[in-house]
Amino acid sequence: MKILITGGAGFIGSAVVRQAIERGHSVVNVDVLTYAACLDNVASVSDSPLYAFEQVDICDMPALADVFAKHQPDAVMHLAAESHVDRSIDGPGAFIQTNVTGTYTLLEAARAYWQGRERFAGFRFHHISTDEVFGSLGPEGQFTEDTPYDPRSPYSASKAASDHLVRAWGETYGLPIVLTNCSNNYGPFHFPEKLVPVVILRALAGEPIPVYGKGDNIRDWLYVEDHADALLKVMADGKIGRSYNIGGENEVTNLDLVKMICAILDDRHPQGAPHAQLITFVTDRPGHDMRYAIDPTRMNTEMGWKPSVTVEEGLAKTVDWYLENEDWWRALQNREGVGQRLGTKA
Ligand SMILES: NC(=O)c1ccc[n+]([C@@H]2O[C@H](COP(=O)([O-])OP(=O)(O)OC[C@H]3O[C@@H](n4cnc5c(N)ncnc54)[C@H](O)[C@@H]3O)[C@@H](O)[C@H]2O)c1
Repeated sequence: MKILITGGAGFIGSAVVRQAIERGHSVVNVDVLTYAACLDNVASVSDSPLYAFEQVDICDMPALADVFAKHQPDAVMHLAAESHVDRSIDGPGAFIQTNVTGTYTLLEAARAYWQGRERFAGFRFHHISTDEVFGSLGPEGQFTEDTPYDPRSPYSASKAASDHLVRAWGETYGLPIVLTNCSNNYGPFHFPEKLVPVVILRALAGEPIPVYGKGDNIRDWLYVEDHADALLKVMADGKIGRSYNIGGENEVTNLDLVKMICAILDDRHPQGAPHAQLITFVTDRPGHDMRYAIDPTRMNTEMGWKPSVTVEEGLAKTVDWYLENEDWWRALQNREGVGQRLGTKA
């Protein structure tokens, strides 16, 4: 199968690119290369005859039409997005542009391509979204695929809008769409502005480890390689028009997550131990959602899929990867905004 993957130079997209090629799929990686992109993420497969790269903005309709005409993909997996909630608070415009207008433009390019080829059987448009579209939970309950949308940040609102567009293109034009909404990912190649790498890199540097508010916000943590595996499964076997929630079955408070990473570092990198002494509570994020949790039933029963690692196992692999790949993360620490506290301007 030839898959057009948007955002394949980002964190999750690159994991999907690597796994897809390892499984024998051809991949066209469409990425404009924003501050969050890194082509080194796909260096292990970029010499493969199965890999092609197109530096294209998903808001650029003529360029997208050329990519579809040139590569003739069997399917689209759409991961390109602005993805950092804190940046969405300081500058929501880029999120509306890429996540909403970009998704609309990609849908139209995909529709024109698919209709121009007699609506060929087997085509899929797989939209990758987030559990944040469902809003914030109290202490009880989990998000199911039928939970009403209630986004509360510019990021999650822009992703919710993109989900609605994808469903509308399925209903109105018959485009064969499938959606997934996943929980917080972590793992190798995670851009160093997100919580897990921030904790690892601050601890290694002996610098304060910032924890927002009291650290009592709860997230479900999904190892990125498990997520990529689940996405390729839904791509192949998901029912048209259906959405699937993908979780790691690992609910943890932010503070406990940070303590787990510190304990792993105490073992792997004892200089500076105990690293938990670096934990510093800082002003909370405005509108910080309290809890996200995923009901995994549909992925378990319909797709026969479960995550392969616990959060302890996944974090240990992740810490080891950061210890072994200093050149990768050092280069990204110089990028604009990385290492600064963002998202306090509300
Ligand atoms: N990271 C998570 O925990 C998480 C959780 C749930 C859902 N998601 C969703 O998964 C997808 C991937 O997330 P990620 O963490 O890998 O993001 P990321 O920020 O690491 O990567 C995004 C990629 O998209 C590219 N991109 C951005 N704007 C573009 C544009 N206009 N045209 C073409 N390419 C563009 C960037 O260059 C980058 O390579 C996103 O849609 C995100 O909303 C992420």
